[in-house]
Amino acid sequence: MQLHERIFELALKRSFFFPSNEPYGGIAGFYDYGPVGVLIKHKIENLWREMFIKNEGFLEIQSSLITPEPVLIASGHVANFSDPVVECLKCKTRIRADHLAEEKHYEKQGGRWDGKLETLDQIIADQKIVCPRCQGSFGKAYKFNLMFATQIGGERVPGYSRPETAQGTFTAFPRLFRNHGTKLPLAVGQVGRSFRNEISPRKGLVRMREFTQMELEYFFDPLKDKHEIFDSLSTQSLTMMIGGVKKEMTSGEIVKEKVTANEIMAYYLVRGWEFYKRAGVDTSKMYYRVLDQNELPHYSKGNIDMEVETSYGAIETIGNSYRTDFDLSQHAKQSGKDFSVHVDGRKIVPHVFEIAMGLDRLFFCILEHCFRDKDEKDEAGNWKHGTAKEWEWFDFPAIIAPYHVAVFPLMSKDGLDNKAKEVVSELRLVGLDVDYRESGSIGRRYARADEIGIPIAITIDYETLEKGTVTIRYRNTGEQIRTEIAGIKKVAYALIKGESWEGIKKAHQLVK
Ligand code: GLY
Repeated sequence: MQLHERIFELALKRSFFFPSNEPYGGIAGFYDYGPVGVLIKHKIENLWREMFIKNEGFLEIQSSLITPEPVLIASGHVANFSDPVVECLKCKTRIRADHLAEEKHYEKQGGRWDGKLETLDQIIADQKIVCPRCQGSFGKAYKFNLMFATQIGGERVPGYSRPETAQGTFTAFPRLFRNHGTKLPLAVGQVGRSFRNEISPRKGLVRMREFTQMELEYFFDPLKDKHEIFDSLSTQSLTMMIGGVKKEMTSGEIVKEKVTANEIMAYYLVRGWEFYKRAGVDTSKMYYRVLDQNELPHYSKGNIDMEVETSYGAIETIGNSYRTDFDLSQHAKQSGKDFSVHVDGRKIVPHVFEIAMGLDRLFFCILEHCFRDKDEKDEAGNWKHGTAKEWEWFDFPAIIAPYHVAVFPLMSKDGLDNKAKEVVSELRLVGLDVDYRESGSIGRRYARADEIGIPIAITIDYETLEKGTVTIRYRNTGEQIRTEIAGIKKVAYALIKGESWEGIKKAHQLVK
């Protein structure tokens, strides 16, 4: 079984996510997050919010999901937001033509599609590719627009479910600039759903028709494209892939060698890297790929994608895009409104650098990279990996885990359960997410906590009633130590801050 299949099974069993509308058979590309998945998703969003909005002093908005057509004509989505497809002349099934070419041609011959429909027609003819369903032949490749269209209200105003959160940010820009200091740089973020009518989505959370984006639009004066604290992180090393070749570069070198259009972009490459690392992505399996000219979206003058290696292969999870003044100028033309601003005595249309992240894809990468297999005994009866876990588990960073702490009374009698509930309330009062469970054997409850990646589990036993102490069990090692009840929150918050278990034990003088 491939890792993503195992993850899918665990996801179903432990309520991470599952197909939407299951009793009706579901439709590919739509997934519901279950209670455990929602908690993790909120944690990812909040970490993003902390790192990209709050710590930088930026703004967050929520714009509407249904977008009137003129906005998306201006943005180019009505004309250009499409995938190449071919249609079977016999059974009428539509299939991604570039995927067919990839599978049947480029995977063997190497290279990438050059973006031309004629090339796809040629490959389909040369390779004699026929419909996988009925063996019928295909018509000519054409572009299929990916937006879900609708008609709004009694007037039937044409509109679409938004294909990206970004356009709502661009149309809000003039008001936000006026209301929030009339100065640049100004950055505005959004977390929210976007929609793409993918032809045949197959890879679970990696390709969804309705998905969550975390997008930051950074508006700046093109004559001032330095970042004020760039120097402090110019020695940070990142893995870059340029022309298909990976190499380590510092962000300072990235700017010097003009890999990015400016310092701002390099600054956010570092921030994106740090964010992924804190969220639990394995940094040895991620890199930034500099896109070739023919791969750029229609609005971009330069894109650098974060790609992450998974059991599906490398997947794109962040698009860093230099959108220049394309969007604001287009909206000015289409709406007839002024999108320019006055800075330093000049009238300019700000340029935009965008960091567009797909939350669901990141969620999936975290699941894959934090997944840990069962332990097994060798012939001498010793545990091979030293975890002694006979179950699969997740090594989530505490900041991403669905719950920070699990609390279990040893038994649900003799007042242990009431004491445990008191401890739960105390921990919840200081903002910790706590899972409380009183039924099942203690071993089974530890196993379940591991399976959803809870970093520490607290057991309330008879000593708790006598002496006010509890045991803290650390997920990764199974080690148990005794501490005062008041010590739990200190340990939990130290883990959330990213401190190591060994360091925490020393700092808090925790003993077995
Ligand atoms: N805003 C860029 C994207 O949605 O891909």
